[in-house]
Amino acid sequence: MAEAVTYLAPVPAGCYVDCTLGLGGHTAALLEAGAGRVIGIDRDRDALAIARERLAQYGDRVVYLHADYRELPRVAREAGRDEVDGVLVDLGVSSMQLDEPARGFSFRQDGPLDMRMNRSEGPTLADMLAAVDETTLANVIYEFGEERKSRRVARAIVEARDAGTLTGTAALASVVRRAAGGGTWQRLDPATRTFQALRIWTNRELEGLEAFLESAAQVVARGGRVVVIAFHSLEDRVVKHTFRRLGSEGDGALRVVTRRPVMPSVEEAKGNPRARSARMRVVERVA
Ligand SMILES: C[S@@+](CC[C@H](N)C(=O)[O-])C[C@H]1O[C@@H](n2cnc3c(N)ncnc32)[C@H](O)[C@@H]1O
Repeated sequence: MAEAVTYLAPVPAGCYVDCTLGLGGHTAALLEAGAGRVIGIDRDRDALAIARERLAQYGDRVVYLHADYRELPRVAREAGRDEVDGVLVDLGVSSMQLDEPARGFSFRQDGPLDMRMNRSEGPTLADMLAAVDETTLANVIYEFGEERKSRRVARAIVEARDAGTLTGTAALASVVRRAAGGGTWQRLDPATRTFQALRIWTNRELEGLEAFLESAAQVVARGGRVVVIAFHSLEDRVVKHTFRRLGSEGDGALRVVTRRPVMPSVEEAKGNPRARSARMRVVERVA
């Protein structure tokens, strides 16, 4: 979101952390707006490689780190910084991850049942599905996907798994579509919610989010801001409550800058349909 850079108001003497470097779009915008240095973190090595190429012109103004942003305090220390001047977090998956069938996120094209953002670590979606029971899977789909037909969808997935027909994302998508149903009039593909849930589950996306936001607010210097962009209501709820709590704590060190979430402009939503559901919230260290 373009406003993210405005809220961070970067200066040449400043060092900023982009916790979700992705393809480097926000980092490039920060550097163009005058940021001295950016520490770019991503748990996806492919994203880091693409960003490194795209941002080559900025030379050593960018530091690239393969890490999980939940390790932010350690990462900042290792980069030689106890404090930074701003932190940006653009939660979720990148368009590269979604669009590349080999990564296993896509319900539009066939690919392996992978869905890991960090391909050097952790179980794949196939491993998770092989070990899960139907009730747990239904809860995952309900909680992380807000799918009302979670029980039917979970039963269909488990049946397909046991019959050995879950060969890839295309097979999974058609099983989910059949179970979740809905007419062709629907704007949203019936597989969308379940794929979102399975992605959040595989990457443990909501685990430790609150503690991470708190650590991000600790690592910014006085006057520095933490800007967080969320793409679904589950994440946005955690961001909203954590910022509210931090802003109302006794020492008055943090102030919530955005009373309401900032939404993308009509222009931006038109240009990038995926940005439509984005919600941005900002907290500032005032003491
Ligand atoms: C929405 S994209 C960011 C796009 C980026 N702002 C840009 O302008 O190109 C989110 C990125 O965050 C990364 N990511 C998600 N969770 C992460 C985590 N816990 N730690 C580090 N990176 C993470 C993903 O791999 C993905 O590349």
